[in-house]
Amino acid sequence: MSPITPPMKNSTAIGVTALFALVAFAILISLPEKKGTHEMKQEPSRVFPLASGKTLFEESCVQCHTLPLFKSHTPDQWPILVKKMNRYMEQTGKNYLSTDEADAVTSYILSNIPAKN
Ligand code: HEC
Repeated sequence: MSPITPPMKNSTAIGVTALFALVAFAILISLPEKKGTHEMKQEPSRVFPLASGKTLFEESCVQCHTLPLFKSHTPDQWPILVKKMNRYMEQTGKNYLSTDEADAVTSYILSNIPAKN
């Protein structure tokens, strides 16, 4: 191998650099979606504006499955379950609830447990 770098090597290096720049750009343009998720975390009320526990329950919980029966869990279990579901929502990029909104959903569920679905 000659100590002087042949011109082809340089253009190959430029090509590789351009490829990395492209990949970096592709990663960059894929970021705004994640940023949106963080914005929701700061201002969750924008996602479900002024919604009641009932509306929050009906609109957020159907993002993945049908609405669960109120009687399917006990008052001890629901608060933990709603938090867990909210984590699922956040992790999977769904609209998710603020702490207050999650509490409102839990209260709504708890107030309906004796009723039939
Ligand atoms: C991001 C998707 C997603 C959303 C939104 C979601 N869930 Fe779920 N839910 C799941 C998955 C996945 C399971 C099954 C796995 C599990 O139980 O952890 C599940 C299971 C359940 C179960 C059965 C759990 C059990 O142990 O029998 C209940 C009840 C439930 N969800 C209630 C809710 C309520 C209430 C909401 C709204 C606050 C909600 N889910 C929103 C994904 C979701």
